[in-house]
Amino acid sequence: MRRLRPGAISVVVVASALAGVLAGGCGEAGRGTSPAGGSTSGAGGQAFGRVVTLPSPTTAGGMPLDQAIAERRSQRTFGAGDLPLATIGQLLWAGQGVTAADGKRAAPSAGGLYPLELYVVTATQVMHYLPAGHRVAVRDQAGVGRLLQAAAHGQQVVGDAPDVIVIAAVPGRLRQRYGGQADRFVDLEAGHVAENVLLQATASQLAAVPVGSIDQAGAAAAVGLPAGETVVYLVPVGPRP
Ligand SMILES: Cc1cc2nc3c(=O)[nH]c(=O)nc-3n(C[C@H](O)[C@H](O)[C@H](O)COP(=O)(O)O)c2cc1C
Repeated sequence: MRRLRPGAISVVVVASALAGVLAGGCGEAGRGTSPAGGSTSGAGGQAFGRVVTLPSPTTAGGMPLDQAIAERRSQRTFGAGDLPLATIGQLLWAGQGVTAADGKRAAPSAGGLYPLELYVVTATQVMHYLPAGHRVAVRDQAGVGRLLQAAAHGQQVVGDAPDVIVIAAVPGRLRQRYGGQADRFVDLEAGHVAENVLLQATASQLAAVPVGSIDQAGAAAAVGLPAGETVVYLVPVGPRP
């Protein structure tokens, strides 16, 4: 592992080749649950049949971290147009990307158990992020953004955003080790991930806002999450106006 210049937003670097190495070591669709690989069983299991490898994330040379912190602001209006897949991938990588050969990820996790799952809701698709190999499993489905808006008590920003990153969780992954602290740890981890995503959005010159005021059951139903998986936080994101 090599260090970048201090202050760069991408501090921990694993050469992009790592994604390929890890992808090679993982099953076709990364089925089943593993800390490094995530699970394709979320949001409908077999419905997520199409697995797409995302463009390699940028891990160097971005906006300096101190500048991104200074410039980050909640923004609730968006310009026209969908985000390119590479940009979506960069946001997902900032949240849960694999950044070490042992499977550790961009955001810290209690005991390295990784209870969080990331989804992206676009105008026409729901994508489930598979950290190992930097891939997404894709389900074609329109109208999920408006369902999420309803679950977010009608907040316009959720329905208007070209993309909504859904931070979901499987708290059960933490229960055996952490018992009654599991739910609190999930919330703490979601905060880490959301901030990474928001800083990446700032560094990528995007508009984004964290949305925590949601009906969790309604949001889980909107995305089609399986039992035991819940929605913690949303990050509507898109081009700046
Ligand atoms: C836990 C949490 C929940 C939030 N929920 C919402 C929300 O439901 N809707 C919204 O528009 N903004 C939400 N926000 C964004 C805050 O309104 C925003 O961070 C605050 O006004 C400070 O502005 P700034 O983010 O530009 O610094 C939330 C922020 C946090 C930390």
